[in-house]
Parts: sequence; C-alpha cells; structure tokens
Amino acid sequence: MKAVKSSSLLITLFFVLGISVLLLSPAIVSAQTAAASTSELADTDCAKCHAKPPADLAANGGKHKGVGCTGCHVGHPPTVKDNIPKCNQCHGGKPHFELKGCLGCHTNPHTPLKISFGANVTEPCLTCHTDQIKQLREHKSKHSALGCSTCHNVHGKIPECLQCHKPHSAEMTAAECKKCHKPHMPTVVTYASDVPSKDCAACHKMVYETLTNSNAKHKTFACAFCHQAKHKMMPKCSDCHGVPHPAGIMAKFPKCGECHNIAHDLNHWPAKAAEKKETPKETKKKKKH
Ligand code: HEC
Ligand code: HEC
Ligand code: HEC
Ligand code: HEC
Ligand code: HEC
Ligand code: HEC
Ligand code: HEC
Ligand code: HEC
Ligand code: HEC
Ligand code: HEC
Ligand code: HEC
Ligand code: HEC
Repeated sequence: MKAVKSSSLLITLFFVLGISVLLLSPAIVSAQTAAASTSELADTDCAKCHAKPPADLAANGGKHKGVGCTGCHVGHPPTVKDNIPKCNQCHGGKPHFELKGCLGCHTNPHTPLKISFGANVTEPCLTCHTDQIKQLREHKSKHSALGCSTCHNVHGKIPECLQCHKPHSAEMTAAECKKCHKPHMPTVVTYASDVPSKDCAACHKMVYETLTNSNAKHKTFACAFCHQAKHKMMPKCSDCHGVPHPAGIMAKFPKCGECHNIAHDLNHWPAKAAEKKETPKETKKKKKH
C-alpha cells in the first residue's frame, strides 16, 4: 500500500509540475478548448502514468477492451473534473440495468466479468434467472429462506450438498444426493428406478433387513422397483399381481396380508403353508412386526 501511495504522490507531483502547468498555461489553454487538449491524450498514453487499469483491461477487459480508455473517460482532471462514466450511459433497456450499485458486483469496470457477490443476494439474480425462484417459492422449504448467493457464492459455482449437510449414511456420497433431492425444492423427494436400496436403508434399516433376509422372490427387487418415483408412494399388490387366486378364496380372505403377511417378508405364512414349504426359519419370529 505504501509503495502505491508514494508512487501516486510522485505521479501527482509530476502531473502538477508538468502536464497541468503546461495545460493551464494561458498560451496553450487560450488557444485550445479543454476537450481538444485532453483529446491529445491517446489510449497509449494512459499507461505511462496509470499501470493497473491498462493491465486489467488487457488481461480481462472482455468487451470493454473494444470501448477503450477514452471511450469511457472523456477528458482528464483537472481540465475535466469528473471523467468517471456512469454505467447507464451505455447500458440500458433491460431489468438488469435498473439495478442499484453495479460496481458492488462488477467490482472493477476494467474487468467487467469478474463478479463478486455479497453473502445474501437474491433479487438481482432474478433479472436473469427465473426458474429456480419459482421452484423455491412453489415448494416452500428451509432453502427458500436462503439467499441464492448463500449457496452460489461465486457466479456459476455449484455447491456440494455436503458443504452444509451430513449424508444419511457413512457410505452415501455427494453425487448421490441429487438422485433424490433437487436443490431448489429439496423436500420434494423423487428418484429414478436405479436408486440403490442401501440409500433407502439409511433410514429404513428394519425394512431393508427384513427384505434382504427373506426367502421370497421380492428380495431380488430394489425398493424403488415397488415404491416408484416418489417418496412414500405405496404400491398395491394388485398393481402387479392382478387377481391371483380364485374369487371364492378372495371373498373369504380379502386381504393378501392375511396369508402373505407383508410385502417385505412374504414367507411369514401361516403355520400350515410354512410347513409345506419346508423352509421354516427360527429367525422369522424375530422379524415379525
Ligand atoms: C502524465 C500522467 C498521466 C497520464 C498520461 C494520464 N493520467 Fe490520468 N491521472 C493522472 C493523475 C496524477 C491523476 C490524479 C488527478 C487528480 O486526482 O486530480 C489522474 C486521474 C485520472 C482519473 C481520475 C481518477 C479519479 O479518482 O477521479 C482517471 C479516470 C484517469 N486519470 C484516466 C486517465 C486516462 C484514461 C488516461 C489516458 C487517456 C490518463 N488518465 C492519462 C495522471 C495521468
Ligand atoms: C467501460 C468503461 C471504462 C473503460 C473502457 C475504462 N475505464 Fe477506467 N474506470 C471506469 C469507471 C466506471 C471507473 C470508476 C471505478 C470506481 O469508481 O471504482 C474507472 C476508474 C479508473 C481510474 C481511477 C481508479 C483506478 O482504478 O485507478 C483510472 C486511473 C482509470 N479508470 C483509467 C483507465 C484506463 C487507463 C483505461 C484504459 C486502459 C480505462 N480506465 C478504461 C470505466 C472505464
Ligand atoms: C462508454 C460506454 C460504456 C460504459 C460507460 C460502460 N460500458 Fe459496459 N460495455 C460497453 C460495451 C459497448 C459493451 C459490449 C456490448 C454489450 O455487451 O452491450 C459492454 C459490455 C459490458 C459487460 C459484458 C462484458 C463482456 O465481455 O461480455 C459488462 C459486464 C459491462 N459492460 C458492465 C459495465 C459496468 C458495470 C459499467 C459501469 C461501471 C459499464 N459496463 C460501463 C460499453 C460501456
Ligand atoms: C448482484 C450482482 C450484480 C449487479 C448488482 C449487477 N450485475 Fe451485471 N451481471 C451480473 C452477473 C452475475 C452477470 C452475468 C455474467 C455472465 O454472463 O457470466 C452480469 C452481466 C452483466 C452484463 C453482460 C450481460 C448482459 O446482459 O449484457 C452487463 C452489461 C452488466 N451486467 C451490466 C450491469 C450494470 C450496468 C449494472 C448496474 C445497473 C449491473 N450489471 C449490476 C451481476 C450483477
Ligand atoms: C446478467 C444476467 C445474470 C445475472 C444477474 C446472474 N446470472 Fe447467473 N448466469 C448468467 C448466464 C448468462 C449464465 C451462463 C448460462 C449457461 O451457461 O447456461 C449463468 C450461469 C449461472 C450458474 C451456472 C449454471 C450452470 O448450468 O452451471 C449459476 C449457478 C448462476 N448463474 C447463479 C446465479 C446467481 C446465484 C446469481 C445472483 C447472485 C446470478 N446467477 C446472476 C446470467 C446471469
Ligand atoms: C441450498 C443451496 C442453493 C440455493 C439457496 C440456490 N441454489 Fe441454485 N443450485 C444449487 C445446486 C446444488 C445446484 C446444482 C443442481 C444440479 O446439479 O442439478 C444449483 C443449480 C443452479 C443453476 C443451474 C441450473 C439449474 O437450475 O440446475 C442456477 C442457474 C441456479 N442454481 C440459480 C439459483 C438462483 C437464482 C437461486 C436463488 C433464487 C438459487 N440458485 C438458490 C444450490 C442452491
Ligand atoms: C450453503 C449451505 C447449504 C447447501 C450447499 C445446501 N443446503 Fe440444504 N439446507 C441448508 C440450511 C441452512 C437448511 C435449514 C437447516 C435447518 O434449519 O435445520 C437446509 C435444509 C435442507 C433440507 C430440509 C428442508 C426443509 O424444509 O425441511 C433438505 C432436504 C436439504 N437442505 C437438502 C439439501 C441438498 C440435497 C443439498 C444439495 C443439493 C443442499 N441441501 C445444499 C443449507 C444448505
Ligand atoms: C434415497 C433417497 C435419498 C438420498 C440419496 C438422499 N436423501 Fe436426503 N432425504 C431423503 C428423504 C426421503 C428425506 C425426508 C425424510 C423425511 O420425510 O423426514 C430426506 C431428508 C433430507 C434432509 C432433511 C433433514 C433430515 O435429515 O431429515 C437433508 C438435510 C438431506 N436429506 C440431505 C441429503 C444429502 C446431503 C444427501 C446426499 C449425501 C441426501 N440427502 C441423499 C431421501 C434421500
Ligand atoms: C432421510 C431418511 C429417509 C430416506 C433416505 C428414505 N426415507 Fe422413506 N421415510 C422416511 C420417513 C421419516 C418416513 C415417514 C415415516 C412415518 O411416517 O412413520 C418415510 C416414509 C416412507 C414410506 C411410507 C410409509 C407409510 O407408512 O406411509 C415409504 C413407502 C418409504 N418411506 C419408502 C422409502 C424408499 C423406497 C426410500 C428409498 C428410495 C426411502 N423411503 C428413503 C425417511 C426416509
Ligand atoms: C411392483 C410389483 C409388485 C408388487 C407391488 C408386489 N409384487 Fe409380488 N411379486 C412381483 C414379482 C415381479 C414377483 C416375482 C414373479 C416371478 O418371478 O414369478 C412377485 C412374487 C410374489 C410372490 C411369490 C413369491 C415367491 O417367492 O415365489 C408372492 C406370494 C407375491 N409376490 C405376493 C405379493 C403381495 C402379497 C404383494 C402386496 C403385499 C405383492 N406381491 C406386491 C411384483 C410385485
Ligand atoms: C388364504 C390365503 C391367501 C390369500 C388371502 C392370498 N394368498 Fe396368495 N398364495 C397363497 C398360497 C397358499 C400360495 C401358494 C404358495 C405356494 O405355492 O408356495 C399363494 C401364492 C401366491 C402367489 C404366487 C403364485 C405363483 O404362481 O407363484 C402370488 C403372486 C400371490 N399368492 C399373490 C397374492 C395376492 C396379491 C393376494 C391378495 C390379493 C393373495 N395372494 C392372497 C395364499 C393366499
Ligand atoms: C415387491 C414390492 C416391494 C419392495 C421390493 C419393497 N416394498 Fe416396501 N412396501 C411394499 C408394499 C406393497 C407395502 C405396503 C405394506 C404391505 O402391504 O405389505 C410396503 C410398505 C413399506 C413401508 C411402510 C410399512 C413399513 O413396513 O414400514 C415402508 C417404509 C417401505 N415399504 C419401505 C421399503 C424399503 C425401504 C424397501 C427396500 C429395502 C422396500 N420397501 C421394498 C412393497 C415393496
């Protein structure tokens, strides 16, 4: 900082003793308008006294490169007191350009696409992105109360869920979260048929163990094969099996569960049926709900 200050003092000194004295000397000023005198400063001159803006513009100026120093800075102090342009001189006609405090995000006009946000920004994002706020508002969750930039602290950056949350189980990876959750409506849990059953097991350990320890063909299916697409979806036996037994039996025993118990453990047959199967298991009793 000190080096910068003293060098800019030197510059000021040079400026006051040199250029400004020359410019202000009546012989020259009377012969020229202020505008004409500053127009003698070409873009190539600026770097002689201002090191950073030309370097910034050259490296990261984007489309401002094409505007050039004097395209924005018309005139020069002391002849022209304020030669700092307003953004809306050139940018208008879109909601984004009605925002206050352009330089709050575009912190350096010489590197206009280097953008930084505050920690709790939402409204300004909506001048360009509208889908996410719709989801956040239509499906209220605790995420709806967060600012967009609380998660996206750098423009375009996608946060990991695990920055802020623990996984449901030790083996669950960051990539898996999005198999069930959408960040802008996290409480609407939906999933594809390939979501692994062990992910469900993180919260439904009992069910998982009952199913995987059973002997019925159902054990070969993933949870999501039956509980399709949406969390808490409940299938009916008849969705897959239609009417499996003669009408007489069905009329007498309308509930499948009376003989087959629950879907996760079809082998909880009444004693007789179990005997016929010749596969009674001690462990079954323990699993009974
Ligand atoms: C001979 C050195 C010199 C040259 C060449 C020069 N400047 Fe400056 N410039 C200065 C000094 C010294 C100041 C500070 C003047 C003051 O604060 O009154 C300054 C101030 C400025 C400011 C105002 C900063 C503020 O805070 O208000 C801008 C903008 C600026 N210069 C842009 C340019 C541009 C663009 C060019 C080239 C077209 C240029 N300058 C060429 C020395 C120079
Ligand atoms: C698109 C318009 C634009 C262009 C092009 C531009 N500037 Fe600037 N410049 C600004 C604005 C706006 C500010 C005021 C920034 C602020 O208030 O923080 C500024 C500030 C400055 C300052 C004073 C603050 C500082 O950073 O030192 C100088 C000196 C300066 N510009 C020089 C230049 C030079 C030299 C060039 C060409 C290499 C240039 N500018 C190109 C818009 C521009
Ligand atoms: C003298 C005119 C002028 C001024 C003043 C000006 N700009 Fe620009 N700016 C342009 C032009 C021309 C472009 C390129 C065309 C476009 O994108 O509209 C541009 C492009 C941009 C871009 C996109 C850059 C890219 O590479 O895609 C940003 C961001 C930007 N301006 C921000 C600002 C901000 C913030 C300010 C005020 C600090 C400002 N501009 C002041 C003329 C200006
Ligand atoms: C909350 C932060 C924020 C504020 C405030 C802000 N911008 Fe931006 N601006 C952005 C972001 C983010 C982009 C997108 C950059 C990209 O495309 O990578 C952008 C893009 C731009 C662009 C280029 C794209 C386009 O639509 O033309 C211009 C020009 C621009 N801003 C000018 C301005 C001006 C002028 C203001 C003040 C009236 C302003 N910005 C205020 C964040 C902001
Ligand atoms: C001036 C318009 C503008 C503003 C304002 C703006 N963005 Fe963007 N944003 C863009 C553009 C353009 C892209 C690139 C789009 C693409 O690649 O499909 C983008 C990309 C993104 C991405 C990455 C998208 C992806 O598919 O990877 C995120 C996240 C994002 N913006 C968040 C934000 C947040 C948060 C804010 C407010 C703090 C914001 N944006 C403000 C224009 C803007
Ligand atoms: C709780 C954190 C969080 C909040 C709050 C949040 N996002 Fe996101 N956003 C994400 C994550 C994570 C992704 C990545 C989604 C993916 O990969 O499928 C994302 C993706 C995006 C994308 C890329 C396109 C898309 O929809 O997938 C944009 C643009 C975006 N967010 C903008 C916003 C805006 C604007 C806001 C505020 C209205 C916002 N986000 C609020 C976490 C968040
Ligand atoms: C920047 C931090 C952050 C990120 C990143 C983030 N969250 Fe959150 N999330 C929160 C906070 C804060 C809460 C509210 C916690 C509380 O009040 O107990 C929350 C709450 C939730 C809730 C409960 C919502 C409710 O209304 O009950 C779910 C589900 C959730 N997050 C899932 C996710 C998923 C999935 C991701 C990744 C796509 C993610 N979060 C990314 C901060 C974050
Ligand atoms: C197999 C689907 C699934 C996967 C994968 C998944 N979740 Fe969840 N998550 C849920 C369900 C279902 C709930 C809601 C439970 C309820 O209703 O209480 C939930 C709730 C949450 C909550 C709210 C608080 C809580 O613990 O109940 C957070 C936070 C959360 N998940 C974060 C994550 C993160 C982070 C990941 C990735 C590591 C992730 N989830 C992966 C299904 C999943
Ligand atoms: C983050 C923990 C969590 C995860 C992961 C999770 N669930 Fe749940 N699940 C719950 C909670 C909590 C309930 C509500 C329990 C209650 O109401 O007694 C529930 C309820 C259910 C119900 C409805 C029970 C009823 O009586 O209505 C089904 C079906 C279900 N979950 C299946 C699944 C499936 C399939 C998966 C994997 C794709 C899964 N769950 C993943 C926590 C979770
Ligand atoms: C999403 C579809 C689906 C649902 C829902 C479903 N099943 Fe099944 N079930 C199957 C399939 C597929 C088989 C294996 C058929 C085969 O391989 O012959 C099967 C097999 C069976 C068997 C034979 C078991 C064995 O080991 O031989 C019985 C009994 C059975 N289901 C009863 C039920 C009952 C009772 C319910 C409701 C509580 C039910 N199912 C719900 C798809 C389903
Ligand atoms: C009165 C007891 C009883 C009721 C009620 C009952 N079942 Fe069965 N079910 C049986 C018996 C016994 C078998 C034959 C077991 C064997 O052969 O090992 C059987 C076999 C099945 C099979 C396997 C058929 C095959 O060809 O492998 C399916 C599927 C089945 N039942 C589905 C259902 C469904 C769905 C319901 C309810 C709509 C239901 N059952 C109600 C006793 C019952
Ligand atoms: C073959 C289809 C099928 C499979 C596979 C299946 N379920 Fe179920 N599930 C059902 C049916 C049908 C019910 C309704 C209760 C009944 O009739 O047995 C149910 C009930 C439930 C319930 C609520 C009742 C209870 O026992 O808590 C939960 C939670 C549940 N299932 C979770 C799971 C999980 C987790 C998995 C994977 C480990 C899974 N289910 C695998 C068909 C299935």
